[in-house]
Amino acid sequence: MSDTKIILEEKDMPRQWYNLAADLPSPLLPPLGPDGKPVTPDMLAPVFPMNLIEQEVSTQRWIDIPEEILEILALWRPSPLYRAKRLEKALGTPARIYYKNEGVSPAGSHKPNTAVPQAWYNKQFGIQRLTTETGAGQWGSALAFACSLIGLKCKVFMVRISFDQKPFRKLMMNTWGAQCVSSPSSETQAGRAIQAKMPDTPGSLGIAISEAIEAAVTDATGKTRYSLGSVLNHVLLHQTIIGLEAKKQLAKAGEKKVDVIIGCAGGGSNFAGLAFPFVCDKIHGQDISIIPVEPEGCPKMTRGPFCYDHGDVAQMTPLLAMHSLGHEFVPPPIHAGGLRYHGMAPLVSQAIVEGLLTPRAYPQLKCYDAAVLWARTEGFISAPETAHAIACTIDEANKAKEEGKEKVILFNWSGHGLMDLGGYDAFFRGKLTNFALPQADLEASLERIKHLPKPEIHRSGKW
Ligand SMILES: Cc1ncc(COP(=O)(O)O)c(C=O)c1O
Repeated sequence: MSDTKIILEEKDMPRQWYNLAADLPSPLLPPLGPDGKPVTPDMLAPVFPMNLIEQEVSTQRWIDIPEEILEILALWRPSPLYRAKRLEKALGTPARIYYKNEGVSPAGSHKPNTAVPQAWYNKQFGIQRLTTETGAGQWGSALAFACSLIGLKCKVFMVRISFDQKPFRKLMMNTWGAQCVSSPSSETQAGRAIQAKMPDTPGSLGIAISEAIEAAVTDATGKTRYSLGSVLNHVLLHQTIIGLEAKKQLAKAGEKKVDVIIGCAGGGSNFAGLAFPFVCDKIHGQDISIIPVEPEGCPKMTRGPFCYDHGDVAQMTPLLAMHSLGHEFVPPPIHAGGLRYHGMAPLVSQAIVEGLLTPRAYPQLKCYDAAVLWARTEGFISAPETAHAIACTIDEANKAKEEGKEKVILFNWSGHGLMDLGGYDAFFRGKLTNFALPQADLEASLERIKHLPKPEIHRSGKW
């Protein structure tokens, strides 16, 4: 019998993170300030500690993981690599399907992989409290968990629709000692302005980010900073431990090559964490199809332009060069709360511009169908975000069957859905629908950012 789980020992945990910025054939464009000029590290200092800003702007290929961080990550890492044998059988595919199970972390997803280092670096810098936003609740729980182990206070602004859909996520955060409020809230100027303008809004990550940044920078003690769970370079960097482990595990399973890499993408962090070490192989000549998957309701990679845009509604963040639907875009209330973000990580966006990645958008119902088939074959109940990666994996496995090819497919099982059963309930009762974004809504949203500077398009032309 071949192994179902490929396990690494703790001593085999990667000791360094991988930074794709060192290998991208075309350089990342710098974030811009309100004057249209590149922001300097000093300008970011009220928001982030300098040790994380240094990682944010680094182009060093390998960055050491401090020992104290490794000790906390060892609570659940290395995460197991699984072979999805039962799904393979159900599909009758010749493909070998592997997945990284990131649902084994205390908070239930990949998010603690960056929450722990972010809390640690803030603590080293003398910070006492962190603020953040959360969409699905996975990131808020991850930061609450990390802050409790490292000794920081934590305040989470949770997007209203998820706050209402997932009350137990708030209780998880409370259990780890964090405070969690529904966003837009009446605690910040940004929140009050949105409440007045759109009293019935389901909220968005863009709104919650504005609130969390405001709460950090207006704290008179100077001991509060903001923490972001995705999008930024240092967040993606911390997640590369996933792909680096997966490489060792695939080799242990006797695989010489991987053909397809898949991850769902909200701000891009779990996708990048798995994919970037393999994007490096692709840059150096390997033939790999690398697919980030988004919902049809929030299609920034497949329908949003590569542009300069703010990361939040109140325009508190610098302008980032990224695929975006416009910072005022409020996505439809789909159940994959973590994929309801208007922008995509600059590193992922630049890799798309280069042609290294081939993004896809999937409708909500197809993702739930896939998640149910997954639960009934592989057993685990998936987060609705993760379901997008599963739907794409099933398509790729069926394609391998049609072509009669023994492909190796690897995807990131980014989190469990045990706190997301409300979505499954709505699906079983036939209450869910597909939400493709109407072209007119997209155009109206993009109209509102057309005055912003336009990025230069750098493409080496190799892919
Ligand atoms: C389980 C899970 N997967 C994926 C995502 C998407 O985020 P990212 O694109 O940063 O990985 C989230 C975000 O909350 C999530 O909770």
